[in-house]
Amino acid sequence: MNILVKGGHVVDPANNRDGIFDILIEKGKISRVEKDIKDEGYKAIDARDKFVLPGLVDMHAHLREPGREDEETLLSGSQAAAKGGFTSVCCMPNTTPPIDNQGVVEYIYAENKKLGLINIYPIGAVTRNREGKELTEIGELKRAGAVAISDDGNPVMDTEIMRRALEYAKMFNLTIISHCEDASLTSGGLMNEGYTAAVLGLKGIPRQAESIMVGREIELVRLTKAKVHIAHVSTKESVGLIRRAKKEGIGLTCETCPHYFTLTEEAVLDYNTNCKVNPPLRTKEDVEAIKEGLKDGTIDVIATDHAPHADFEKDIEFEQASFGMIGLETALSLAIKGLAETKTGGLSLVVEKMSLNPSRILGLNKGTLGMGEDADLLILDPKKEWILEREKILSKSRNSPYIGWTLRGVILNVVCGGRALLTNGKIN
Ligand code: DOR
Ligand code: ZN
Repeated sequence: MNILVKGGHVVDPANNRDGIFDILIEKGKISRVEKDIKDEGYKAIDARDKFVLPGLVDMHAHLREPGREDEETLLSGSQAAAKGGFTSVCCMPNTTPPIDNQGVVEYIYAENKKLGLINIYPIGAVTRNREGKELTEIGELKRAGAVAISDDGNPVMDTEIMRRALEYAKMFNLTIISHCEDASLTSGGLMNEGYTAAVLGLKGIPRQAESIMVGREIELVRLTKAKVHIAHVSTKESVGLIRRAKKEGIGLTCETCPHYFTLTEEAVLDYNTNCKVNPPLRTKEDVEAIKEGLKDGTIDVIATDHAPHADFEKDIEFEQASFGMIGLETALSLAIKGLAETKTGGLSLVVEKMSLNPSRILGLNKGTLGMGEDADLLILDPKKEWILEREKILSKSRNSPYIGWTLRGVILNVVCGGRALLTNGKIN
């Protein structure tokens, strides 16, 4: 169906567009972007006083299929994604079985094709069963369609294995997404090490567990010249190391997540297990450093690390609870809160971090509203407020610390490949 998006404020940094335009969608592609397109009987969407952005691209989510369909499925994850403005989601391989072979990559593509909602791109594992011991068939994963490789959830602790993985990944032009955690420092840890952990009597995770591995990855990029993307940066030391490496011309990229710039370790003070994440929430100083890193370009991407967990894994003692929080439905509002405060320039920064940069890093050909591109877009009322209500969460899991928060920025429409997935805030 042809759709005419009328009169919206288009923010499309890839094409240097930031102003009022009409967008015509024909056969799933953007066919025209012009000041005034005549309505010749198209299905029109009135976007006046709203913003029109490229569909968001999440390069780090856990969709739990196959294996933990009680927590999330490709279907529920797609609906949560669309509600949050995401038209493309990359799913991490810590599934059961893990995405460590061609068969599971093909399974995800085949199942998602049946759904026909958003674009889902599998990320393959670096090592078999994500055990950090034996490399996967990286070329086979790439041929099957893996868009990156990662053992996310686990670090690749053995530096020699990581070096070899990087050399293979480079041959196949794949990015390795590194979960930076020195496991010998984090064993048994539950939250950020420091004053709050001491008050609560919980075992801490030192910040250096992250930055030591960030430092290692920088040196491995210097050695191999392979493509490394650092996942979920949470500390000011990591930001500092990456900033210095980039200044030196070492080509690596990194992401943070909304919770690392909107929450601190103090959110754990009431033992709220929805605030138990890995890496852990840090301090006010870290939050400021992350925001600075986003603004000055040190941090390329805001990813969700959407990590759904069932109630029985969260409604228990803090020590026993699983790490992770959901994030697809709140990411854009939290990014606006953290970065933009609805200034137009700020929204363009949000589009870069949440759509254009992740797409460029992984070579997905998304993140733009240029003519001839896939018609993936969202319409946003950036000033309108909403409250996150538990019952209205579309993800199968409800482990969000933002329940009850008043957030700014309502997503009204989402179109993916020319199909309307969300209309007036409701999933179709
Ligand atoms: O908090 C987290 N949850 N961190 C990870 O690294 C893994 C993720 C998960 O899969 O639940
Ligand atoms: Zn993750």
